[in-house]
Amino acid sequence: MTEATAIRWEQDQDGVVTLVLDDPVQSANTMNAAFTDALEATVERLAATEGLRGVIVTSAKKTFFAGGDLRLLSSVGPEDAEGVFANSMRIKRALRTLETLGKPVVAAINGAALGGGLEIALACHHRIALDAPGSKIGLPEVTLGLLPGGGGVVRTVRLMGITDALLKVLLQGRQYRPAQALEAGLVHEVAATREEMLAKARAFVDANPEAVQPWDVKGYKIPGGTPSNPSFAANLPAFPANLRKQLAGAPYPAPRNILAAAVESTQVDIDTAMVIEARYFAELACGQISKNMIQAFFFDMQAVNSGAGRPKDVPARTVSTVAVLGAGMMGAGIAYSCAQAGMRVLLKDVTIEAAERGKAYSAGLLDKAVARGRTTPEEREAFLARITPTADAADLAGCDAVIEAVFENVELKHKVFQEVQDVIAPDALLCSNTSTLPIGLLAEGVERTADFIGLHFFSPVDKMPLVEIIVGPQTGQEALARAFDLVRQIRKTPIVVNDSRGFFTSRVIGQFINEGVAMIGEGLDPVSVEQAAAQAGYPAKVLSLLDELTLTLPRKIRNEARRAVEESGGSWTPHPGDLVMDRMLDEFDRPGRSGGAGFYEYEDGRRTRLWPGLREHFTQPGKEIPFEDMKERMLFAEALDSVRCLEESVLTSVADANVGSVLGIGFPAWTGGVLQYINGYDGGLPGFVARARELAAAYGERFTPPPLLLQMAEEGRTFRD
Ligand code: NAI
Repeated sequence: MTEATAIRWEQDQDGVVTLVLDDPVQSANTMNAAFTDALEATVERLAATEGLRGVIVTSAKKTFFAGGDLRLLSSVGPEDAEGVFANSMRIKRALRTLETLGKPVVAAINGAALGGGLEIALACHHRIALDAPGSKIGLPEVTLGLLPGGGGVVRTVRLMGITDALLKVLLQGRQYRPAQALEAGLVHEVAATREEMLAKARAFVDANPEAVQPWDVKGYKIPGGTPSNPSFAANLPAFPANLRKQLAGAPYPAPRNILAAAVESTQVDIDTAMVIEARYFAELACGQISKNMIQAFFFDMQAVNSGAGRPKDVPARTVSTVAVLGAGMMGAGIAYSCAQAGMRVLLKDVTIEAAERGKAYSAGLLDKAVARGRTTPEEREAFLARITPTADAADLAGCDAVIEAVFENVELKHKVFQEVQDVIAPDALLCSNTSTLPIGLLAEGVERTADFIGLHFFSPVDKMPLVEIIVGPQTGQEALARAFDLVRQIRKTPIVVNDSRGFFTSRVIGQFINEGVAMIGEGLDPVSVEQAAAQAGYPAKVLSLLDELTLTLPRKIRNEARRAVEESGGSWTPHPGDLVMDRMLDEFDRPGRSGGAGFYEYEDGRRTRLWPGLREHFTQPGKEIPFEDMKERMLFAEALDSVRCLEESVLTSVADANVGSVLGIGFPAWTGGVLQYINGYDGGLPGFVARARELAAAYGERFTPPPLLLQMAEEGRTFRD
């Protein structure tokens, strides 16, 4: 490939060159080797062009530029650090030449400009964003365990000052819509049409024949001061302190490197700053954690959302009217998400008052959105008009999908489906949002069993991006495809699992909880147990999470599972945590936050401190185990059970396991998900097996590596689809 294809050169009679980014192979432009070659050659040609008046950079794709070459980045290891550094420097040098040509360079950002895309635009003197659907602007590298290595750290710090650059752009990886990017100062103008964007670009070229970057103007100072200025220096320690607090000891190297690159970049000239940024970038790119995060948040997410788990030969269908049965916490949230996607929602509860309360939940969320300027009062009205509360099954006539979210009770769930089955469309999709009941069992209460499927949402529904689709033994391929399409229609991420107790997510999160509670039962200090969960990277500490769920729920699930195992002639193995859970409930009457008392104490529903009784009744003074063991017991318990889920075909794809665990049940993001954690463990699968055996010897049989894991380790395989 040559520059003529990756970057098309279009020169007009006035000496204005439009560079059209247009990867000839892929559907999006990325910072791959061919692009880097083309960029270098193009910049050289610009510098040599007689009579050049200005440059407009735009793209022929739907997006402006997609970012780094993630396939390449996920294949480099520590031994490639010099090569990655050199590559980053090539891009930086080319962009630096572009911005110092002495001619105006305008970025006409015709679509999303994330990561490398925004870095190219930041090297232009003027940035105009087209307000197109899907146009997002930002530097999200941190969410993949990376930092912007194409000058993004250096230029945002020089553009907006170190505080804004860190907080608004670099550390959160926030993606801005064009109007927000304008407000944040990332772009200079927004255009409504492509023609307007190009006209504005041309106008800038005409009006600024000798444009330079602010940082190349003599006497330039970084906005807001630099750490070498005493008053700024006094505030600086707050950054690492806040960062440490936010990360709670979890192993995320990217924010640390971003902070260091940003601070150091202010102490030196721009060219030296670029070298520093490239070093920090190479360190992250060659490490394991960026690989984990790229795997889960890019490749696995893409596989899951693009329909790897959806039967291919069933034509796509959209839902226009959905009936939601039960307007409690989950039903109200499901109604909101469906109405948000434009569906008509019939929200049914036993009384009209209860159904109206469910609708009021949406009104509350919309009020907040209006107050924050995220929606308009008119849009709010139109949104609410799509939700019809009712207490009468006859009102559900004609709906093409039903989502049931009544109390967790088999007979009740059977009853509500019977009530509606003669009213709804004869081929309506039938879904249950049960969190624990087997889909096969629930299907016994409906007539069209092939159309019946589990659709497990997470709370709060409006915020949680995942839906677990549960295929019962009787579910047909058409129902699976339709459920998948429904989840995509409401813009959530679907994972597909087979029916089993607790499915995948509830079953595996149960292992985390049980392990935390088992440590309390062994007499370990509860503060250390909570700290271990935080430092392992869990977003919620284990005892506080259990208090939120309430202790009665895992006990109910355990009792039902035990009954099922015993009825089928099997023998039940109690978990070491069971006894602690039973004593908390039966002896101390501490069921969790909703009951006003649990592992923590509560005042007006607010958590105040760990219950001192834990120390009195459970903790053995001086009892300790290595802190690393505490963290790894929780991570291993979940990862090992996920392998068992694969063995038992509860899971049928690795991507589902990784995505489901990080998006649904808070498995730490740095691991890349439950199975990528095993791939990325020190020593790979054999290293993980050896460590699991150590944990099994010290803490119990439940850590014994399952046969599938042993076999894969032996054959030198890793968990990939
Ligand atoms: P909830 O108690 O808040 O709501 C249940 C609603 O169902 C109540 O409004 C009740 O009046 C209504 N209802 C009862 N009988 C009805 C009938 N015959 N017709 C229509 N409505 C009826 O319960 P929640 O938390 O919303 O849970 C609902 C379902 O979702 C349960 O199966 C639960 O296991 C499941 N789930 C709950 C999650 C959670 O975090 N709470 C997460 C995922 C699933």
